[in-house]
Amino acid sequence: MKRKLSCAAALTLATGVVLAVSTTTAVYAQAASTQESTSDGIAEYREMLGEGGNPAELIEMTGEELWAEKRGPKNASLEQCELGQGPGVVKNAYAHLPRYFDDAGRVMDLESRLVYCMVTLQGMSEKEVTKKPFSGSGDYSTDLEALVGYVVGQSRGTLLAVPQEHPQEKAAFERGKQIFFFRGGPYDFACASCHSVDGQRIRLQDLPNLTESGPARAAYTSWPAYRVSQGALRSMQWRLNDCFRQQRMPHLKYGSQASIDLLVFLAANANGGEMAAPGLKR
Ligand code: HEC
Repeated sequence: MKRKLSCAAALTLATGVVLAVSTTTAVYAQAASTQESTSDGIAEYREMLGEGGNPAELIEMTGEELWAEKRGPKNASLEQCELGQGPGVVKNAYAHLPRYFDDAGRVMDLESRLVYCMVTLQGMSEKEVTKKPFSGSGDYSTDLEALVGYVVGQSRGTLLAVPQEHPQEKAAFERGKQIFFFRGGPYDFACASCHSVDGQRIRLQDLPNLTESGPARAAYTSWPAYRVSQGALRSMQWRLNDCFRQQRMPHLKYGSQASIDLLVFLAANANGGEMAAPGLKR
């Protein structure tokens, strides 16, 4: 509740639009005119916030330092971490993730791959690394968030081209699609309930139709993003986690196969979009 109120307060301040905070999860489509004016308000707000730069840039710099720092029981940096473009290549790597990795024998998204590198190269324990992947409100970013910011930023301006060649990449897409349309929880919602229709909104937020390439691209390429209302860089794993919460589904395990499959589905639908992340969100 606290978060909703503070977001509303911030938006009211920035846009002069008085927002109604509803605690219901009713999904509804609004008249086109109202929707436009609200979306315009948010765009304006984003512009105001973006003046002077996206705070994510500071987190990207922290991530870059972490990437090169010798850490963990093996006292090694991540400079040999292979993100799919060759050991240590960060440039444009994110635009081709998730993908199949031979050494791990499975499809991985950026976050599970970073964990893999921290474990294999630096000798850290997976349990320790994934204990608290997301920062709390007002905390500085976690190591994973900073590394995500750095790697993602290195694909800015690159066209998203998530591979769908390896049988496991195709299988992950199919499973992701199933999860996207799977209805469950107390409201019998699927991701599709909120994200497969044009022009739907919940409270103030537009709900992008993630099954169509236009809105899917716009949404996917703007994440991960710095969330102003939370003062934090939020990763894709966080995004999914929060939508599982909105769906009233059980907690989504960080880096789980289900989370990776969903990301393959979302990313492949957005292929061809120009990466603009880390973005800036309300
Ligand atoms: C009850 C409705 C609801 C359900 C169900 C839901 N979401 Fe969302 N989703 C939202 C809302 C609301 C936002 C915007 C949140 C915000 O701005 O804070 C959002 C945002 C997103 C975004 C980012 C869009 C953008 O343009 O920034 C993605 C990606 C996403 N959801 C994916 C999913 C996936 C995958 C699922 C299924 C696991 C899912 N959502 C289920 C309501 C829902």
